[in-house]
Amino acid sequence: MATQKMKFYIATILNPQNDRECDFYTNGLLAVEGTKIKDILPLEKGVKKYGAKMNKRNTTDFGQAVIMPGFFDMHFHWVQDDVREMPKDSLLEWLEKYTFPTEMKFADKAYAKKRAEQFFQKLVRHGTLGGACYSSIHEHAVDAAMKKSKGHFVIGNVIMNMNSPEALTQSEESSLKLTQKLIKKFGKKHCFTPRFAITTTPKVMKEGSKMADKAKCFKQTHLSETPAEIDFVLSIYRNLPGFEKVKTYTEIYEKTGMLGERSLMGHGIHLSTKELQTLSKTKTSVVHCPTSNAPIEEKGLGSGLFNFKQVEKSKVRWALGSDIGGGPFLSMFDVMRSFVDQHKKKEATYVKALYRSTLAGAEILGRGKTSGNLNKGKEASFIVVPLPKDSQPKAAEALLSDLITPHRKNRHDYEGLVKDVYFCGKALI
Ligand code: GUN
Ligand code: FE
Repeated sequence: MATQKMKFYIATILNPQNDRECDFYTNGLLAVEGTKIKDILPLEKGVKKYGAKMNKRNTTDFGQAVIMPGFFDMHFHWVQDDVREMPKDSLLEWLEKYTFPTEMKFADKAYAKKRAEQFFQKLVRHGTLGGACYSSIHEHAVDAAMKKSKGHFVIGNVIMNMNSPEALTQSEESSLKLTQKLIKKFGKKHCFTPRFAITTTPKVMKEGSKMADKAKCFKQTHLSETPAEIDFVLSIYRNLPGFEKVKTYTEIYEKTGMLGERSLMGHGIHLSTKELQTLSKTKTSVVHCPTSNAPIEEKGLGSGLFNFKQVEKSKVRWALGSDIGGGPFLSMFDVMRSFVDQHKKKEATYVKALYRSTLAGAEILGRGKTSGNLNKGKEASFIVVPLPKDSQPKAAEALLSDLITPHRKNRHDYEGLVKDVYFCGKALI
């Protein structure tokens, strides 16, 4: 039964279901009751069913526009907003030269607060309403991000105990203490975040993992992003007791308890079949960040190509992320574009890219039943994007192409695509 609290939204609607299917309504009606989606159906049918309840006050016709679920960006560094478009050479040099100095600034509490307010407001305007976020080492930066983020995010302080600049190096003891404290303060919203094996000691990864597992918190780190990183990791660990015989990067995370069904591995580009098997067996997820991995001429770090076909063949769970600031732009439309551009010959479609930017992320975060798409009964979290005037698509793939391809050469345009954002039934902008 319709109630007085219902609201109705009219537009073209996209509702991603999986890699191959995305429900498409040329003229659709989204009926919202309180915080939840009550119904999603063709407008004609919707008017028959709800016409008596619809009026000027509770009905919004967005006209030539599309409604789609809000994005889940499954790997980004909120403290790297300033390095997104800085010169990039390769990962390790870029970290030393630009990224670490930028993160050091977040030692100042007032600065961190101000930047969190700006960043998370911007993120909402890009239509991102969930995901997994890296902060700097500082507790107050995590506090600020937790306070200012709007949506379903897990957030963690990067943990750095070795091979790091002095201003970003914490002791093992203080890292573990802070982990315990943040788990207590934020529960499952805290994400245990050793930056990567290069900067975090095995003891901290092991003990911190245990704390996170006990509290059912997520864990995230970087894995096999570049060949130089892998060589460096192995050269460090083969000199550490207990790791003398490790053959792969993945083995290091396996030995330190970092893998599992609540584990998110950023990048995972250069992995052997055996490593993929380990990730699959442990139900670990990989987050593919195409705009970050793209060539330097395209404002990426030139880290390489993610073999999603092989990852899927190995039954490894995966989703898309922006990797701000390795990736240059916040918009998941740009990430979707990059994914399709990079993988065209390997059956990458926009429908797949949309699923991997929405529901796949929600599923990985354990929220697939309540968010990630616009199925009946789920949270009413959606974005509205105007369609080009002459666009009259007949299917989801064509519609996404009409939205995304015109801006390939001017990627800043993606920043202005989203016009309305609703989270749990409430307008955020
Ligand atoms: N590996 C370790 N830290 C980082 C980071 O900040 N960005 C990226 N892209 N890779 C990393
Ligand atoms: Fe990253």
